[in-house]
Amino acid sequence: MTTAPVMPAPVHFSAGSGHYALTDTTVIHATGSAQPVAEYLAELLRPATGFPLHIATAETPGSPAIELTIGDTAQPNPGYLLSITATRIELRADDAAQLFAGVQSLRQLLPHAIEHATVQDVDWHVPCVEISDYPRFSYRGAMLDVARHFFTVATVKRYLDRMALLKLNVLHLHLTDDQGWRIHIDSWPNLTALGATTAVGGGAGGFYTKADYTEIVEHAASRYITVVPEIDVPGHTNAALAAYPELNCDGSAPAPYTGIEVGFSSLCISKELTYQFLDDVFREISELTPGQYLHLGGDESLATSDEDYLEFIRRATAIAASHGKTLIGWHEMGRSRDLPAGTVGQYWSYVTPRDDADKRVASFIEQGGRMIMSPADAIYLDMKYATDEELGLEWADGPTTLDAAYNWDPAAIVNGVTDEHILGIEAPLWTETIDNVRDLEYMVFPRIIAAAEIAWSPRSAHDWADFTRRLADWSPRLHAAEITYNRVDEVSWPEVSQPGMSSTP
Ligand code: ACM
Repeated sequence: MTTAPVMPAPVHFSAGSGHYALTDTTVIHATGSAQPVAEYLAELLRPATGFPLHIATAETPGSPAIELTIGDTAQPNPGYLLSITATRIELRADDAAQLFAGVQSLRQLLPHAIEHATVQDVDWHVPCVEISDYPRFSYRGAMLDVARHFFTVATVKRYLDRMALLKLNVLHLHLTDDQGWRIHIDSWPNLTALGATTAVGGGAGGFYTKADYTEIVEHAASRYITVVPEIDVPGHTNAALAAYPELNCDGSAPAPYTGIEVGFSSLCISKELTYQFLDDVFREISELTPGQYLHLGGDESLATSDEDYLEFIRRATAIAASHGKTLIGWHEMGRSRDLPAGTVGQYWSYVTPRDDADKRVASFIEQGGRMIMSPADAIYLDMKYATDEELGLEWADGPTTLDAAYNWDPAAIVNGVTDEHILGIEAPLWTETIDNVRDLEYMVFPRIIAAAEIAWSPRSAHDWADFTRRLADWSPRLHAAEITYNRVDEVSWPEVSQPGMSSTP
């Protein structure tokens, strides 16, 4: 073993000799804020091992232990140190979130069979290794578009569990668009009563009650993942405009929309009611969201004049900021010079910027914000893998191969925009062509693993040949975890041996 069998690649890894054997007498030792992570680790390991994995708060002399502690790791960013010897596993981290990240590395050092939901007859040996590790970027996101097609709470929770495995720590939910409004707002009930009943292609749609949304937020928190809600305005608003005629400048509601065009809808910029509506929506969503961020969209407002757009962004961002959140906007929002200080931009142009996207980035930075990098030709996970694939779109210079998803650097896109200006990266999944969990995972895996490695691992650890080799070695883990993935021909995948698990939809 010369490189770690861990995704994303750790900063420092060295292999020792021998192994630690996990047995039915192993205890997990943890105190204080390490305890919830110990509980999570035990729950992760119990199904496949069948071991009790008792959690002890005091040292039990003589018992083999996995020791979880929180304390200074003396690394450049908060991170974790994992030391595995024949007699002990020690995991130390700067905080609970990094302890959780370290647990994901430990998990991946165990045999792949650990991912099974039922007891497996396996020697649970963990190789002796030393890892010191910390993330390159603090914001490591995935976005799920639940507006074009609706995804249930169970599917979102499953996605959160997949994200946790890869040390991703932000789920951005694109909650509203032309085709559907997916979050209940008490003061504007028709947003869901009418606006949630549609989806791309004419499906039934759906929405999250406040209790559903809270269940997602709480599940995310248990995986140290922050939920970022997006209410996309002033464009991408046909569902809201169809639900409330009075939000339209002419007072009449458009027909519900189930196609996949963009850029035709706009809130009425000149009506005071628009800003009352935004205040109510932003207040209710902010109250439900413990995380720091609120995403206002602002993209593709092609049906809004330049003057109206700037006026709208000035007022809408001030209203949103009054509810105590840090704002995020797609990069078009950088057209405004009136953004609340620290507003974060999300770049979705190309690996080589087009259409003044680099100027928009500069605007966010000049106004005290940082950037989330989501170049569409690299990590838009809804792009086709290959032209002959059934699922996905191609507009972003598609198809997008695994190679394209892996071989880019967020700090090499916009001149002068380096790691210090970059909050992180995010891999969006737009869902015009995706309406079930299997197709979702097929589009996401393996490209999301590339995204996770760009978000976490230092640039110096990026190595395409090594990545594809590690991915091939890792694929039995995907099978054991019942993750659907595309066996792209850039990887020499091993034969599939597990019965009953197909890797393609
Ligand atoms: C976007 O893809 N319209 C952000």
